[in-house]
Amino acid sequence: MKILVTGGAGYLGSILSLALIEEGHDVRVLDNLMYGGRALLSMFGHSRFELTAGDIRDSSAVERALANIDAVVHLAAIVGDPACARDPEAARAINEHGSLGVVRAAQAAGVGRFVFASTCSNYGRMSDTSVLATEDHDLRPLSLYAETKVAVERELLGAGAASMAGTVLRFATLFGVSPRMRFDLTVNQFVMEMLAHRKLVVYGERFWRPYVHVRDAARAIMTVLSAPVDVVRSQVFNVGHTDENYRKVDLVGIIGRRVSGATVEFVSVADDPRDYKVSFERIRSTLGFVPTRRVADGIEEVARVIETGVLGKVEDAAYSNIGERAPSGAIAAPGTPICVP
Ligand SMILES: NC(=O)c1ccc[n+]([C@@H]2O[C@H](COP(=O)([O-])OP(=O)(O)OC[C@H]3O[C@@H](n4cnc5c(N)ncnc54)[C@H](O)[C@@H]3O)[C@@H](O)[C@H]2O)c1
Repeated sequence: MKILVTGGAGYLGSILSLALIEEGHDVRVLDNLMYGGRALLSMFGHSRFELTAGDIRDSSAVERALANIDAVVHLAAIVGDPACARDPEAARAINEHGSLGVVRAAQAAGVGRFVFASTCSNYGRMSDTSVLATEDHDLRPLSLYAETKVAVERELLGAGAASMAGTVLRFATLFGVSPRMRFDLTVNQFVMEMLAHRKLVVYGERFWRPYVHVRDAARAIMTVLSAPVDVVRSQVFNVGHTDENYRKVDLVGIIGRRVSGATVEFVSVADDPRDYKVSFERIRSTLGFVPTRRVADGIEEVARVIETGVLGKVEDAAYSNIGERAPSGAIAAPGTPICVP
C-alpha cells in the first residue's frame, strides 16, 4: 500500500513509518517537524520514503500529501494533557479542526482506510476501577486533549466518512525507546528521573492507567492495516494488554528493581482525570493482537539508553512535549504538573 502517516516524525510515527517501509509499503510522512525531523533520518535512504513537510491545518499541504494514497494513519497532534493545556488554541485548531480536515480530505480523495490514534484517556475518571473499561464504556473526556480526540472519533465513525473504512485505536500510555525520544511519558519519565536525577516526585500514586510499548503500538496499527477491511471498518479497539494496568506506585516498585538508590516522594492528589483500568480483550479476540513487550522490558530498555549516554542531556526540551526539565525533577515551565504524559 501507499500509506500517509501524519505526525510520522514523532515518538510513535517514526517507529511506525520505518516498520511500514521495511514491510514493503510506500510511506509518505506529513509532519510540521515541531520537535525537529531527526527521527526521520534513517528513512531517507529508502526509495519508498517521502516527506511532505507541512501542517495538517494547511489544506493544500494535506491535499498534496493525500495524492495516490491508499491508507492514512493519522497521528499528528499536540499530544498530552499538559501540552494541550499550555496552548489550548493550537490544540483545538490542530487536534480537532485540523484532524477533521484530514478525515474529510481523505474521504474526498478516495482513501480506502483511515486509522486514527486516539487515547484511553477518553474514559476519564472511572467511579469503580474494579470494572475494566471496554470500547463500549461511556466516554468522559475530562481534558481538552481527550475532548478533541472524542470529537474526531465521532466524525470518523459517523455517517460522513462512510465510504472510507475508519478505525479508531485508543492507545494506552506509551513507553519505550524511539528515535524521537519522549521523557514526558510516565514510565520513561520515572526511569529517567530515578536514574539520572536519583530523585522522583510522584503525584497521585494510587491512580490507575494502562501502558503499552511504543513498538507494540506500531504493530497494532500494522495489524489493523493488514486486516480484512470489513473486520476493522467503523471499529474501535483499545490498544494494550489487560495485565498492564498499573498505579504509579506499582511502576515505582518495578523500576526500583532495576534502579536503586533513588529518593521517591509521593504527593497525594485528591483527584486525577486519569484514573481508569482498561480491557484489551477486543483487539486480542478480533485481530489476535497481543503486545510482546511488558513495562519491565521498557524500563530495562530506557535505563540502558540513558546509561549509554547516547541521548546526551536527558532534560533537553527536544525529549519532551512540555519543555525542558530541571534536574530537581520539576518541570522548568511553572505550573505544569509533572508525572503525566
Ligand atoms: N504517546 C502516548 O502515550 C499516546 C497515547 C495515546 C495516544 N497517542 C496518540 O498517538 C499519536 C502520536 O503520539 P506521539 O507520542 O508520537 O506524539 P509526538 O508529539 O511525539 O508526535 C506528534 C507528531 O505530530 C507532529 N505535528 C504536531 N502538530 C502538527 C501539525 N499541525 N501538522 C503536522 N504535524 C504536526 C509533530 O511534529 C510530531 O512529529 C498522537 O495522535 C497521540 O494523541 C499517544
